[in-house]
Amino acid sequence: MTDLRTSYLGLQLRSPLVASASPLTGDTDVLRRLEDEGAAAAVLPSLFEEQLTHDQLELDRLLEQTSEHVSEALSYFPDLSDYNTGPSSYLKLIEEAKRAVAIPVIASLNGTTPGGWVRHARRMQDAGADALELNVYAIATDPSLGAAELEARYLELIAAVRAAVTVPLAVKLSPFFTAMANMAVRVAEAGADGLVLFNRFYQPDLDLDALDVVPRLVLSTSDELRLPLRWIAILYGQVRASLAATSGVHTGLDAAKVLLAGADVAMMTSALLRHGPGHVAEVERELVAVLAEREYTSVAELRGSMSRRSMPDSAGFERANYVRMLASWSSQTTPSPGQATTS
Ligand SMILES: Cc1cc2nc3c(=O)[nH]c(=O)nc-3n(C[C@H](O)[C@H](O)[C@H](O)COP(=O)(O)O)c2cc1C
Repeated sequence: MTDLRTSYLGLQLRSPLVASASPLTGDTDVLRRLEDEGAAAAVLPSLFEEQLTHDQLELDRLLEQTSEHVSEALSYFPDLSDYNTGPSSYLKLIEEAKRAVAIPVIASLNGTTPGGWVRHARRMQDAGADALELNVYAIATDPSLGAAELEARYLELIAAVRAAVTVPLAVKLSPFFTAMANMAVRVAEAGADGLVLFNRFYQPDLDLDALDVVPRLVLSTSDELRLPLRWIAILYGQVRASLAATSGVHTGLDAAKVLLAGADVAMMTSALLRHGPGHVAEVERELVAVLAEREYTSVAELRGSMSRRSMPDSAGFERANYVRMLASWSSQTTPSPGQATTS
């Protein structure tokens, strides 16, 4: 029997397989199904800073007079009623989720700037959330805003959310930091109990007929695993925080890889959207088989055993890997002995 137990943000989990934030986890029937299929915890879909400030702006508009500025600000934010139903319903969702399942329920807040909206974190905790995930999804488009200032703003936001709650706090980060390892350490110092690596950035497309920018959400594949895989391997043992892998976990082998790199949990969304909640059980079976084949008896035994610090040759995670990677391409294309050449 393989012991799959793991600990994430101080929460004891039956396995490392967690459902990450998506519309799936916003439906309590699906949440129940995910739990039945073995999901060890679930992150609810995010509530967005814009929704909270939007509500505040609407309130301000009612209390004071409508200013052009306020109306304009209100018109920017898309209607999210198909995704989540707004702040008060979100608290109800947490309560319903807690009644529906016994696994830990992690509420998610999505924003970029410190401000009054952060108070909502406390309401999420009071509604019963076992932990909070703060998703800092920012695109740095302002040329006058430098990296140091942006990072300081992130840390201020994380500290503000940390101060608002006593439950564990995870922070979902982008991979686009100049000094990722340094930023990871500072995020933990600002109060994050865990890092969720990484946010997957969606690239918009252009519709030439409508002359418009259109959203195009493409689900991930296992190929995308290598970005979180590398950084989890590098950060393991260097940052005082739990590590969660998100982006590209589709199979038991993918889950085993991130655990070997040093993750505490492997999160899935695309795979569950593609195959349904039953896929959690399939991934668990595969994970158990992968571990058994390699004679691991527990997740604790394998965790981090292929991290950068555990590998005799850490160059694979560093610059030397670039050189090796390029060389591996030429050896792939070099005809093997005896094979005819074209030149
Ligand atoms: C339809 C959809 C909705 C999502 N909604 C959220 C969200 O509300 N908050 C969040 O932090 N991540 C959200 N994500 C990102 C996922 O939680 C996950 O991090 C990402 O899809 C990468 O993991 P994957 O490769 O397993 O899909 C969403 C992803 C998808 C596909």
